[in-house]
Amino acid sequence: MAIKGTRSSRKEPLLPPKGTRDIIGDEYLTYQGFAEKAAEIAIYYGFKPIETPILEHEEVFTSGLSAATDIVGKEMYSLRTKGGDRLALRPEGTAPAMRAYLSGGMQALPQPVMVYYYGPYFRHDSPQRGRYREFRQFGLEVIGSPKSIYDALIVCLSVTILGEVGIKNPCVEVNSLGCKECREGYRRELSSYYRKHVKNICVECRERLKGSPLRVLDCKNPKCVPIKERAPESIAYLCAECKKHFKEFMEYLDEMGITYRINSTLVRGLDYYSRTVFEIISADLTEEGTPALALGGGGRYDYLARHLGSRKDVPSVGTSLGVDRILLSPSHTPLHPRIIKKPEMFFIQLGFDAKLQSLRVTEVLRKAHIPIAHSLGKDSLSTQLGIAEKMGVPYCIILGQKEVIDGTVIVRAMANHSQDTVKLPKLPEYLKHLKR
Ligand code: HAM
Repeated sequence: MAIKGTRSSRKEPLLPPKGTRDIIGDEYLTYQGFAEKAAEIAIYYGFKPIETPILEHEEVFTSGLSAATDIVGKEMYSLRTKGGDRLALRPEGTAPAMRAYLSGGMQALPQPVMVYYYGPYFRHDSPQRGRYREFRQFGLEVIGSPKSIYDALIVCLSVTILGEVGIKNPCVEVNSLGCKECREGYRRELSSYYRKHVKNICVECRERLKGSPLRVLDCKNPKCVPIKERAPESIAYLCAECKKHFKEFMEYLDEMGITYRINSTLVRGLDYYSRTVFEIISADLTEEGTPALALGGGGRYDYLARHLGSRKDVPSVGTSLGVDRILLSPSHTPLHPRIIKKPEMFFIQLGFDAKLQSLRVTEVLRKAHIPIAHSLGKDSLSTQLGIAEKMGVPYCIILGQKEVIDGTVIVRAMANHSQDTVKLPKLPEYLKHLKR
């Protein structure tokens, strides 16, 4: 007897959880095409691949990003294992990359260590166009150097990757939050300015003022916008070293012909940033009346390592591109992955003995790098020929009862129906000389 609500009584098939989706067919190949192109560019610039677990100790994010950030405090999927460990589905890739650097002894390697990664990330946000609970990022991290040239390299590569997939003139916004000392001075000034206006700001900003005051600058509430516009700017509080760092960074961008604008309210939603922060916005993805969606963003995180247990700072900088959003952009040009091989032959088998031999023939063709299509489950010649015709392949390879006994196959040209009988060991050589 079926119990109400169990699978056997269910009439509708289960859907993927809200904010997640199945990626299949051509869309899957487009994701793969993007990941391959981005990885290729990263490798040319000296980055090496890294894959960290999808599940991390919750602490990697609560210590690394601070529990006060929305991504950790409100949006992180946390769970307790049967053994009592607190784990989290990774909401981002930078803290895990730094965790891997520290726990994997990468300090002993020549510095900086440059890594790239691609994979799924999870945030419990309200799903809407371009915002999912499971989404994919492609990221680059340069771990172990304070030099401004790496900040520029990271922005340059983000723009290059976007350009290679057709995103034209992405808008790069930059800002500097300064080092520990000047950021602290700025935080104090900003808090004291906002406290003077506390009666006129939204409830969320009042909360932010307590935990992470810089986040008030992220607020889009119309009530807070005029106050934000007159707020002190972080660049005005930079120390001489931070000023020099920011200036050099912009000089590199100028030299590389990258257009950018300084956005003095850009603070980003993660707490680990110091000095350079940036975001890349696409005009063509943004819908009227909604806040602009960032295709990617990043910055410097010189103090993150200490929060993850390092005894010294490990100055670092990185970027993450939101792959789902990039692929949604109207100007995105799909790239096909290298693995795609258009079938050049259709393989037809007739009778059980031929079916028995069919995988052996397929393997001979694979070893000869000849991609084929087939319909192993179909029996009749006319059905299989019909499928081959629909696919528009120039040749069919036919294996019948007689051919199995003789150790041959028939190669049939679809255009004029001419046929040749070929010994199986000679088949790769014969096919190589066919006109396709
Ligand atoms: P983020 O700005 O939180 O930075 O995310 C980077 C990009 O991921 C965003 O610009 C956006 O394109 C995409 N993204 C974020 N949330 C979602 C979502 N819910 N749905 C779809 N796409 C989304 C980071 O994650 C930092 N780890 C970047 C970084 C790397 N900083 C230094 N190194």
